[in-house]
Amino acid sequence: MERTLSIVKPDGVKKGLIGEVIRRFENAGLRITALKMLKLTKDQAKGFYIVHKDRPFYESLTDFMSEGPIVVMVVEGENAISKVREIMGATNPREAAPGTIRAEFASDIERNIVHGSDSPESASFEIGYFFSSIEIMD
Ligand code: RTP
Ligand code: MG
Repeated sequence: MERTLSIVKPDGVKKGLIGEVIRRFENAGLRITALKMLKLTKDQAKGFYIVHKDRPFYESLTDFMSEGPIVVMVVEGENAISKVREIMGATNPREAAPGTIRAEFASDIERNIVHGSDSPESASFEIGYFFSSIEIMD
């Protein structure tokens, strides 16, 4: 069993896609073991995406991620990290495989609806950023 962190980003919440994202994870046999809605401050968004601090898109990305409510969740299952990323599709929706969330709903490379951890190390950091151990179901 593996755990990953996923986020319905502000554009996904605005477009009414919270249920759509969760449904796709559950249909793939993954389980939601923690869930909440919150609105990040600019500094909280910067802390979450600290790995990208030297990238040219850091400012714009953290403005976007703090512009409105998001839904954060822990997703669990066999190969959860890669399964979630497969369901999401490539970062750039124009390169995302047909049928993926980003191919179907994202408007551009930044406003791409959903986040998923990219490794066990990032999953561990990202889950801990939003949830304490007693908030995650067994
Ligand atoms: P995420 O971390 O959100 O799951 O997305 P990802 O792994 O597919 O992409 P990553 O390279 O980690 O980038 C994080 C987020 O930054 C925005 N981005 N903008 N303007 C750009 O060139 C650019 N590149 C990335 C996207 O919102 C991306 O999901
Ligand atoms: Mg990433």
